[in-house]
Amino acid sequence: MKKQLLAILLLISPALVLANEGGANLDKAQIDPANQESLQRGARTFVNYCMGCHSAKYERYNRLARDLGISETDVIDNLIFTGAKIGDTMKIGMQSKDAKKYFGAAPPDLTLIARRRGADWLYTYLRTFYLDDSRPFGVNNKVFDKVGMPDVLWELQGWQKPVYETVTDVNGNKHQKLVEVKLVRQGTQSPAEFDRTVRDLVNFLTYMAEPVKLQRQALGVKVLLFLFVLFIITYLLKKEYWKDVH
Ligand code: HEC
Repeated sequence: MKKQLLAILLLISPALVLANEGGANLDKAQIDPANQESLQRGARTFVNYCMGCHSAKYERYNRLARDLGISETDVIDNLIFTGAKIGDTMKIGMQSKDAKKYFGAAPPDLTLIARRRGADWLYTYLRTFYLDDSRPFGVNNKVFDKVGMPDVLWELQGWQKPVYETVTDVNGNKHQKLVEVKLVRQGTQSPAEFDRTVRDLVNFLTYMAEPVKLQRQALGVKVLLFLFVLFIITYLLKKEYWKDVH
């Protein structure tokens, strides 16, 4: 029986490993991919604040309508500002070579960004821009040092200042280390409201990076349940067969 138990544990271990991902010093995004209202708010923030520079060229507007539970007319009225048609992908007008000239780095397409960076990184990144006079746009970022992106959400969040700590390395040299960023002037949203705005936005970015994730996970659970039931039946059957032999 121990062996069977081990087999089951091995079967579900990938799920346990995946549940454990995420790095040090990142704030937890705690997104809820099943919450459609959160995804809708995230989509709205995305088209309003991000699509000036970033495209999402592997996502179509009509797919967005279907997955987020909004009508195509609502998408056309509230989410399309680029003159695109409902069947188009979420492209933008800015050319990447022009963007490179303006910002020093081209803003990457964001359809798959959540797969590369993970939700916690994005959640931390979008909330930790801080004032830094040495940078071209006057801001730097806690998890993306010398970032080329301006602090586009500053009106909502307000301004933040860095807090440093002096640390001594193994050679006895002292360094200034950024430990946190502190709000010095609040924007139009309170810190809790702003966290929610960013959580919704990250939820949306995560959805875009893997639109079928919810279905896939639901299917996975069903498959595991099926295997479990099958295991019990097989085990009883085996007992029945071998009953007379012993
Ligand atoms: C004014 C133009 C502009 C706007 C608006 C903008 N970004 Fe950016 N973004 C950039 C640029 C430029 C970079 C590249 C920075 C670099 O590589 O130094 C960037 C980089 C990023 C990255 C890091 C990509 C990587 O390399 O991992 C993320 C994530 C990101 N942006 C998300 C957003 C989100 C979400 C929004 C909307 C809230 C947004 N951006 C709005 C210009 C912009």
